[in-house]
Amino acid sequence: MCYSNLYSIKLLRYSQDTKEGDFNLEKEKRILTGDRPTGKLHLGHYVGSLENRLKLQHEYDTFLIIADIQALTTNFDQPDKLSNDVHQVAEDYLAVGIDPEETTILVQSMIPEIAELTIFYSMIVTVNQLQRNPTIKSEADQYGYREMSYGFLGYPVSQAADITFCKADLVPVGQDQLPHIEQTRKIVRKFNQLYKPVFKEPEPLISRIPRLVGLDGENKMSKSLDNAIYLNDSKKEVEKKVMSAKTDPARVRATDPGHPEVCTVFEYHRAFNEDNLKEIEKRCKAGTIGCVDCKKRLANAINEIFEPIRARRQQYLNKPDLVDEIVINGTKKAKKIAKETVNEVKEAMKLNYFK
Ligand code: TRP
Repeated sequence: MCYSNLYSIKLLRYSQDTKEGDFNLEKEKRILTGDRPTGKLHLGHYVGSLENRLKLQHEYDTFLIIADIQALTTNFDQPDKLSNDVHQVAEDYLAVGIDPEETTILVQSMIPEIAELTIFYSMIVTVNQLQRNPTIKSEADQYGYREMSYGFLGYPVSQAADITFCKADLVPVGQDQLPHIEQTRKIVRKFNQLYKPVFKEPEPLISRIPRLVGLDGENKMSKSLDNAIYLNDSKKEVEKKVMSAKTDPARVRATDPGHPEVCTVFEYHRAFNEDNLKEIEKRCKAGTIGCVDCKKRLANAINEIFEPIRARRQQYLNKPDLVDEIVINGTKKAKKIAKETVNEVKEAMKLNYFK
């Protein structure tokens, strides 16, 4: 689904008692998306999904899940890390402009109803389906199933529970998450058909830049590969990292004609400096802008995006309890909704034995 389509759908409805000039808008549709808390968020997260969340939070009833149980599928042996990471992700969300008035931020492990849904869904998902999931498959190809935990094999099921506890309509994600959304849709179809039509099939919304390359120019931007620019990097750090980014290897002198289509820095201009893209492309190809100048302009463009993020982060850091309060309240609100969904699910599955 693309943006123009999205905007053409009538998403907002005035409630009946809306008076003139009264912005009492009710959001009709829901978004659920989120992240595994494994550390600081970076520019890959920003273009992968944060950007869409920021835009859409005003139109959709938005839920952001900090998927700490999903993080445990790989980090179960580092229990000291998780608390920091959960706080870090919440702070990054708010710093980037997620508005707690518009968006509900929640922690996955604090809502046992999500775990309940996971168990119920696990009965209607085959092992074979999970083994065909590309993330599971590549892990199995690398290390074999002997080493894989039951929790890791089943994490797409747990992600289906994340998405469906609030009956999300739309899931903004990076391209690598598409198989998980497809799995969720399969579960929903099977559940509805077997029991009762409780759920709707969620739609993915893929970002403008499906996959952001890292500073090494080879791999996807990721923390583990040390090729990332973090949302909380300082102005100087951004400049230093951008200067280290891979460029067109065929370009030795500043006056050599460049090949933007193979240049990491140009990919970043496309992602973060769209207004100047045409000019930079032209000048690179003509050899009238050198890589150093081109990188300086990119660092400036990124720092311009980061300026309001830095200011907002500081505002939150000045009120140390506020971030926690927002997450606790968001989780409470989400838990209520999850409880209603579990009740419906149990009723549909005839698991309600006593009045
Ligand atoms: N798997 C996602 C990631 O690795 C994180 C995630 C967990 C998620 N639950 C979700 C994303 C539900 C979208 C919807 O980035």
